[in-house]
Amino acid sequence: MPDPLITLRRVDGDRGAFIPLLLEADESEPMVRGYLEAGELFELTADLGGPAAAEAVGAVLLTPTEPDALEIKNIALRAEHRGRGLGRAAIGAIATEARSRGAPRLVVGTADSSAGTIAFYRACGFRDSGRLEGFFDAYPEPVIEDGVQAHDMILFEMLL
Ligand SMILES: CC(C)(COP(=O)(O)OP(=O)(O)OC[C@H]1O[C@@H](n2cnc3c(N)ncnc32)[C@H](O)[C@@H]1OP(=O)(O)O)[C@@H](O)C(=O)NCCC(=O)NCCS
Repeated sequence: MPDPLITLRRVDGDRGAFIPLLLEADESEPMVRGYLEAGELFELTADLGGPAAAEAVGAVLLTPTEPDALEIKNIALRAEHRGRGLGRAAIGAIATEARSRGAPRLVVGTADSSAGTIAFYRACGFRDSGRLEGFFDAYPEPVIEDGVQAHDMILFEMLL
């Protein structure tokens, strides 16, 4: 099956409405509110072949980082749109956007407890690039997923 077509639509207005969705990727509301206004927020829309030309399926927050990379600070698809290749297509669209801006690298980090998300980034072509030890120990509340507590941030990069 060809990759579904994902488009990045920049959000120029109020970002607050996206907080519930962004909390699906980062459960700490103080952290999400802390970076909400950074970088650029995009709504992810997909042509799913239905009556609507483009359906809103998720969101991604991109921030410039380090000397030259673009970071996926937060990415989340609405629950009903997960597990069907849209995440992979979204990473492809984000990589195309980053490339068009001349960014040589796309980077992203996730918790060491998030086995599924780690598998997702590897499946999408990211390679492991490091680890921020104790990153999640500094969160206001412990981050626990499926009974596993997060401690370190696993870093990934994709060369563009
Ligand atoms: C993470 C997320 C963006 C992935 O998008 P998705 O549409 O569900 O993923 P896809 O269907 O495109 O999967 C792409 C590949 O990743 C793999 N993958 C995705 N989720 C996985 C999981 N939980 N466990 C193992 N592999 C997984 C798929 O098997 C697929 O690989 P394959 O094509 O080789 O089979 C989406 O599930 C989501 O929004 N989750 C909630 C928010 C979140 O956790 N965000 C990331 C925080 S850093």
